[in-house]
Amino acid sequence: MKRILVVGAGGQIGTELVPFLQKNYGEDNVIAAEVRPEVVERLSENSMAIQLDALDFNGYGEAIKKYNIDGIYNLVALLSAKGELNPELAWKINMGALMNSLNLAKELNCALFTPSSIGAFGNSTPHYKTPQDTVMRPDTVYGICKVAGELLGDYYHRRYGVDTRSVRFPGIISNGCLPGGGTTDYAVEVFYEVIKNGRYTCEVPEDAYMDMIYMPDALEATVQLMEADPSRLKHRNSFNIASMSFTPEQIFNEIKKRIPSFTWDYKIDPVKANIANSWPDCLDDTCAREEWDWNPKWGLQEMITDMLKVCEEKVKAGLY
Ligand code: SER
Repeated sequence: MKRILVVGAGGQIGTELVPFLQKNYGEDNVIAAEVRPEVVERLSENSMAIQLDALDFNGYGEAIKKYNIDGIYNLVALLSAKGELNPELAWKINMGALMNSLNLAKELNCALFTPSSIGAFGNSTPHYKTPQDTVMRPDTVYGICKVAGELLGDYYHRRYGVDTRSVRFPGIISNGCLPGGGTTDYAVEVFYEVIKNGRYTCEVPEDAYMDMIYMPDALEATVQLMEADPSRLKHRNSFNIASMSFTPEQIFNEIKKRIPSFTWDYKIDPVKANIANSWPDCLDDTCAREEWDWNPKWGLQEMITDMLKVCEEKVKAGLY
């Protein structure tokens, strides 16, 4: 890839993926696209940024042609908990952006990355060391979109030769931009709350294990997969990746070791509880390790140290 369009660039992943891609491919070769005008303005401070509605097929196609794009990162999605509030809207946005991305990648000869998620799994999936290829019957509209996206990604590759690749992201922990509407958001929010208020109220059950990943590893995985030698790829859409897995109680206790005054309680959101309990406890990422050398660098302890440091700086600077 030489010229890249990041669609839905103003969210949690895009905010950090754009600068990461700029470092890898050159500042002028990465275009951030986002539907919200005020976010386009923020993005334009650090990169070329355009306003684009991914559901507008013609406008999306024009942007690809105008900027000579040959690689698309489609990050547009309503996340799991938010999707349950309005399933029809979630389907329309998540699948609309995906179908436009697939068809434009096919017509205009672009590689395409669209993340999948641990949300593609459901209650009937084996929860421990969830295999790469296994039962996928998600319980959320978000997950249904992710499974459909994985199948369509493989279909467009097989049938039309489109270079589609994807990973199943665990909950992403980061300090660039807060996530919104996800079930794993608690693992980000807690850091800001502990620094600002010394306490946190968690909506996810204390014993719900979920896979998580620190943003630097998520970014590394994305580019590493897109740059992988295609002849080694037996899978494409999508790879299990894993680096850490914990329950709320476990991470809160680890944070308390660093900040002894930290206290927390639970006010369970039944929607998030059902989702969290339906997702795997930890994924088996052997295929990613074998097919494109996935090898995460961040574990729970290093992540906590870094998050506390960066979040404290941001809170002190009045950014949160
Ligand atoms: N972080 C997402 C969510 O919680 C999962 O991909 O919805």
